[in-house]
Amino acid sequence: MPIYHKSGNIPAKRHTQFEKPDGSGFYYEQLFGTVGFDGMASLMYHIHRPTEVIQVGDSIDLSPKIVDTNQLMMRKFIGFNVLPKEDFLESRVPILVNKDCIIGLAAPQKSLRDYFYKNADADELLFIHKGSGTLRTQLGNVSFEYGDYLIIPRGMIYQIDFDTIDNRIFYVESHSPIYTPKRYRNYFGQLLEHSPYCERDYKLPENLETHDEQGEFVIKIKKQNKLHSLVYRYHPFDVVGFDGYNYPWGFSIHNFEPITGRIHQPPPVHQTFQTDAFVVCSFCPRLFDYHPKAIPAPYNHSNIDSDEVIYYVDGDFMSRNDIAQGHITLHPGGIPHGPHPGAMERSIGKKETQELAVMVDTFRPLLLTEDALKLDDGKYFGSWIG
Ligand SMILES: [Fe+2]
Repeated sequence: MPIYHKSGNIPAKRHTQFEKPDGSGFYYEQLFGTVGFDGMASLMYHIHRPTEVIQVGDSIDLSPKIVDTNQLMMRKFIGFNVLPKEDFLESRVPILVNKDCIIGLAAPQKSLRDYFYKNADADELLFIHKGSGTLRTQLGNVSFEYGDYLIIPRGMIYQIDFDTIDNRIFYVESHSPIYTPKRYRNYFGQLLEHSPYCERDYKLPENLETHDEQGEFVIKIKKQNKLHSLVYRYHPFDVVGFDGYNYPWGFSIHNFEPITGRIHQPPPVHQTFQTDAFVVCSFCPRLFDYHPKAIPAPYNHSNIDSDEVIYYVDGDFMSRNDIAQGHITLHPGGIPHGPHPGAMERSIGKKETQELAVMVDTFRPLLLTEDALKLDDGKYFGSWIG
């Protein structure tokens, strides 16, 4: 997250004595970084040592159940068929996975308040399709609503509050950090003028919660596809202040400013995030191409080096027939895909689109899970036969 942020109280100089105001001792500094000591980092200051583990509980295997099936087949998954579940973690259903990421759906009904969660494997991207609430973390809170991306760096301890029981989330767990696209940043990390969004659009963590509580605090920690349960002596939200670049944040898809042109613009203009292993793009309502002979629908294309996953959020999906909210399409690398029959002709002369969708293009092939097969409509591959 290439923007400096700070909250609460911190000492004037890093790594120096930071006394508690009541004279009872010192605050405890913790460096919270990624990519060894080369990536984003924050320094946070705890009331208590963040290392006091009382008990180590059992571990649960969360490995996605991969199925051996045809990987060269276009598919459509009916995402809203994922059943809601009360618990935030239990509601998660991995759909498509590879060694770099897990792409899934979740319909949690209840706020996460009984325990804390930390993903030690991956950065998390939560796209909020339905619902609103507050992401509560060690480093402050981020309120969210329909259309928000929440980016939670690996290692962040968090809980989440939902305002209602009707929540739908499209999520990606990424084993490499999730960044803004490099080509939109200058040498110093500032977003450039041609970036489709800027720093003012960020939802930074605020309202730092500082709990000075002793007890038994369960933190469920995901590591190596296992969910471990550690009981800590002190409330993990005991941070009095932090500063740095590594923290949870949000960004609304509705603040993505589309880049348009006289003729059809390629998918990179929609890019919103980058990682070492995939990109995330936002397809937003926008004016169509304005060349007098323009064809607004995309051309057929061979994404030979990536698998293309599109999650459909809202609006009319100009290049597709029979697509609805919550659907996911998979266009695997290796075979071309393009507009459905009639879609190209229908698009000519249209002035704008209201489509809203999130695309994840992975550089390595994706594997299907057992749950993905249950959501697969089984006939999408033939939907280009006019
Ligand atoms: Fe495509």
